[in-house]
Amino acid sequence: MSLSGKNVLLIIGGGIAAYKALELIREISKRGGSVRAILTKAGAEFVTPLSVASLSGEKVFTDLFSLTDEAEMGHIELSRSADLVVVAPATADLLAKMAHGLANDLASTALLATDKRVLVAPAMNVRMWQHGATQRNIATLKSDNILFVGPDDGTMACGEFGPGRMAEPPAIADAIEAALAPSSRLLEGRHVLVTSGPTHEPIDPVRYIANRSSGKQGHAIAAAAARAGAKVTLVSGPVSIPDPPGVQVIRVEEAAQMLQAVEKALPADIAVFCAAVADWRIASHSEDKLKKTDAGPPALLLTPNPDILSTIAHRTADRPSLIVGFAAETSNVIDYARAKLDKKACDLIVANDVGGNSGVMGGDMNTVHIVSKDAVDSWPTLNKTDVAERLIALFAAKFTKKSRP
Ligand code: PMT
Repeated sequence: MSLSGKNVLLIIGGGIAAYKALELIREISKRGGSVRAILTKAGAEFVTPLSVASLSGEKVFTDLFSLTDEAEMGHIELSRSADLVVVAPATADLLAKMAHGLANDLASTALLATDKRVLVAPAMNVRMWQHGATQRNIATLKSDNILFVGPDDGTMACGEFGPGRMAEPPAIADAIEAALAPSSRLLEGRHVLVTSGPTHEPIDPVRYIANRSSGKQGHAIAAAAARAGAKVTLVSGPVSIPDPPGVQVIRVEEAAQMLQAVEKALPADIAVFCAAVADWRIASHSEDKLKKTDAGPPALLLTPNPDILSTIAHRTADRPSLIVGFAAETSNVIDYARAKLDKKACDLIVANDVGGNSGVMGGDMNTVHIVSKDAVDSWPTLNKTDVAERLIALFAAKFTKKSRP
């Protein structure tokens, strides 16, 4: 009885998969848990309040403005008395409301008011799932720590094939168990240092050399490390995305400042170098704005920047136990990554193809290859938050092995 004593608030959205919510209630009860349900107006078009109440053995809540419901239990208490809030099926509309903090019915109000973790089981037409708006909402929800189970690939009720089918009730119940298991704070007590974003190397007071890094991947790693219980220092170049929660952020502009900030943040147990650091800077940048003259354009003389990753990895004192570099390549990705692993003396390289059409720099998705001395592990294309979660699990496993040989 793995869910013994656990209370789930189940929000049933309006989709053909709503019938599976009835099986889910059964599955949760079979595992010892209890279910209180909110049925949305659209959900009630697919399953009746009576069938939900019969299976859950509880009153079903449907109306935000029902005085009876509010007298018995307010929507705030309803959302907080549960151990976990589960949305199944989570329609495109419900996900959009959650991502934007809308609260215009009982389900969306409870989702905004809850102080508990939320697990969603999306279900929708494949095109709706793949639509840019839905994918943007999903990225927002993942960065808000909303848990996802599914959707699965398969033939849909509408006859199309692809991702969008709601996960099966036993898989959702497994995800509920995992979400309610005592949290595996994989990096509790560890200090994780992450670099992220681009650097800006000044040409003069108004111009600089930069690159297209948005900081999304590095910030996602810092956020995932914080969720895993680590103390996190994030040294970030100039970015326009928000600071991850629970992380100490040190903002820098230039590579030399980034190196200084990284050295100052040591000692660390794990260091992840995700920043796209400019390899060169202007040898001597102008204190005044360069003027157009009849002599033609100025020649910009470049000089190498310090290699932050290599500098830290070659330290004898205070070398972090696990040093992870990134390799941003546009061809021969694995070969170049192997060469960087060797030359920069790091323990792992996360290689990604940043070629013109990849959309990796600045985008939400990434396809990475984990390159170590004797292996290459190629991961499927994932949201950057998922890449970060998987990386943190991998680092935690490696770190444990290293610290306890
Ligand atoms: O920020 P996003 O838009 O989310 O994009 C993510 C990303 C593509 C920037 C990220 O996934 C990535 O690949 N980061 C590394 C970018 C890079 O500079 O790669 P590189 O192959 O040039 O450098 C190799 C490694 O050396 C990197 O770990 C880099 O941080 C480090 N380096 C490079 C030069 C330098 N002077 N100092 C360094 O520490």
